Amino acid sequence: MDSPPASSPVGNVSDTARWVAVYRAWESKRPDALFRDPHAETLAGDRGRAIAELMPLQARSGWPLVARTKLTDDAVMSAVAKGCDCVVNLAAGLDTRPYRLDLPGTLRWVEVDLPGIIGEKERALAAARPRCRLERIKADLADSQVRAALLADIGRGSERTLVVSEGLLIYLDESEVRGLAHDLLGAPGIVWWVLDIASPELLEMMQKSMGSHLNNAPMKFGPENGVAYFEALGWSVAGVEPLLRAAARFNRLPWFLRLFALFPLPDPRHLRRARWSAVVTLERRPAPH
Ligand SMILES: C[S@@+](CC[C@H](N)C(=O)[O-])C[C@H]1O[C@@H](n2cnc3c(N)ncnc32)[C@H](O)[C@@H]1O
Repeated sequence: MDSPPASSPVGNVSDTARWVAVYRAWESKRPDALFRDPHAETLAGDRGRAIAELMPLQARSGWPLVARTKLTDDAVMSAVAKGCDCVVNLAAGLDTRPYRLDLPGTLRWVEVDLPGIIGEKERALAAARPRCRLERIKADLADSQVRAALLADIGRGSERTLVVSEGLLIYLDESEVRGLAHDLLGAPGIVWWVLDIASPELLEMMQKSMGSHLNNAPMKFGPENGVAYFEALGWSVAGVEPLLRAAARFNRLPWFLRLFALFPLPDPRHLRRARWSAVVTLERRPAPH
C-alpha cells in the first residue's frame, strides 16, 4: 500500500469523524438549518476542514453527509416515538445527538468508538450536558469478542434498542460487516438498525477521488446487492432513503446534480453500475407463529 502523502490530514480512521463534523458545522450556520449542532465547529477543527477539501467536486458542499445526518436524526426520533428505550451509536465519532436532539431524559444512549476519539470527545464535551442518560464505550468493533461482550452488556437493562452505525460499514471488511450483522441479530433487545451504504460504483469513485489520502482509512464495503445483502443475513428492510433524492427534497443538492435526482432510482437490491448511497432502516423479522 502507498504511504499517505506527508501532508495527508487522514492519519487514521477516526480522523474521518472530524470530516463529518465539518458538514454539521456548515449546516448549523444556515438560517434554514435542518439541524443545529453547536459543538460541530470546534470538534471538526482544522484537520476536519482539511479533509473536507479533498472531497470530489460533486460532494464538496457536503450534501450527502447533511442528508445522512438529517435522515438519521429522523430515524432516531421515529424509533423513540415507537418506544425505543436505548440507542446504541456504533462508531459515534464526534456526533452530538444526545446534546442536540429533543430526547426523553430517561432514554439510555450508548456511544461506541475507538479509544482515541472517545477520549478526545469526552474532554471536549466535559462541560456540556446531555439530554439523556449518556454512556461511552471505547471498543474496536472489528473485534468479534469485544462486540459480543458489548452487546451482552447493552442487552442488560434495555428492551427496545435502536442501533445506529452511521459512516461505519464503509470502513469495514465484508467479513466484519457480516459478523456485526450477525451479532446484532443475535442480541434479542435490538429491534432496529439504521445504517448507510454505498454502491460499488460510488465506492470506487470515492476511492479514486480521495486517492492515497485514504490509505490510513481505506473505504472497503459497498455491496452490489445493496439491501439484499442484509436480507440474506436475516434482517428485514423497513426503509430505504437514497441520499440523492433526500438531498433534493431538503433543497441541499448543488444545481448541477438536480437533474440526476429526477432519474428513476436503481433497484436497491441490484445496484450494478449505479452511483447510489442510502440510509437504510433494518428491522428484526417478527418471529414466525
Ligand atoms: C465517518 S466517521 C462517522 C462518525 C459518526 N458516526 C458520524 O456520522 O459523525 C467513522 C467513524 O467510525 C469509527 N470506526 C471505524 N472503524 C472502527 C472500529 N473498528 N471500531 C470502532 N469504531 C470504528 C471511527 O473512529 C470514526 O469515528
